[in-house]
Amino acid sequence: MRALNGLRGLTRERLLDLLEQAERMAEVLERPVPKVPALRGKRIALVFFEPSTRTRMSFDLAARSLGADLMNFTAGSSSLSKGESLLDTAQTIAALGADCLVVRSGNVGMPAFLERHVGLPIVNAGDGTNEHPTQALLDLLTLRRRWSGSFEGRVLAIVGDVARSRVARSHLWAAAALGHRVRIIAPRTFMEPGIEESFGVEWTADLEDGLPGADAVLLLRVQNERRGEGGPYIPEPLDYFLRYGLDRARLARLAPDVPVLHPGPVNRAVEIAPDLIYDPKVSLIQEQVTVGVAVRMAALYHVLGGSDGEAAA
Ligand code: CP
Repeated sequence: MRALNGLRGLTRERLLDLLEQAERMAEVLERPVPKVPALRGKRIALVFFEPSTRTRMSFDLAARSLGADLMNFTAGSSSLSKGESLLDTAQTIAALGADCLVVRSGNVGMPAFLERHVGLPIVNAGDGTNEHPTQALLDLLTLRRRWSGSFEGRVLAIVGDVARSRVARSHLWAAAALGHRVRIIAPRTFMEPGIEESFGVEWTADLEDGLPGADAVLLLRVQNERRGEGGPYIPEPLDYFLRYGLDRARLARLAPDVPVLHPGPVNRAVEIAPDLIYDPKVSLIQEQVTVGVAVRMAALYHVLGGSDGEAAA
């Protein structure tokens, strides 16, 4: 049985295979009829215990584009409100005939826990502060297109709340395998202790010092919903924008054509100036969302489809 619980432990070859498969899926999505029957007859359950727009919708579209059937679960209207546990909820979905669970949870390790106890292939759609593997893969696919197919020697600047970011953690594991450098730009309170040594990354607290020399900039979302949960201090939005927000003046510190990414949802005028969000000369945010469907098709095919390296499309 296969799972995609995270990018931790994936080899360079496996990561590149997933990106190649995603490129083939992107070609399918360009066809007049953007579908293949690669997962016809499979039932995919979207088990989201936390809110989502782009991840949930793109997994939904990815499953349909592979000919699979969908089982949708909505936490707010489920029997969780009657006290049913997450495990019993997942066991119930398995008994209804699911072949695969796509799991988003606020709890670190929940997808791996469900894989172990429910015994179905799992795709992690984001677990707490741990990993968001398909988000990092879609970022990498977007970057590889801009970076002429190669990661080696490139510098990815990651700006923001690395300590609480599952997106950042998946990127750190991927960079260790693919060979590009990561430069973190963040206040010390947004840094996880020991991260520089354990991942061999650079760190600066000064955005204007950190931007020159970057080959791409990935802005992380300030997670306002996690205010009051303790842990590192989250600054006021205006304070954050003044020190870490990307605007046109700061953009000028980058070489021309260096792309800007953000996993979304964006906090306008917190991580990025509103006029940059949809500027196609600067921002890859819309492209990230679009390629997310192909990446999630590749992820679903990886856990449910053919043998290693086999193409679905
Ligand atoms: N990037 C991301 O995971 O967005 P959603 O929470 O909208 O799925």
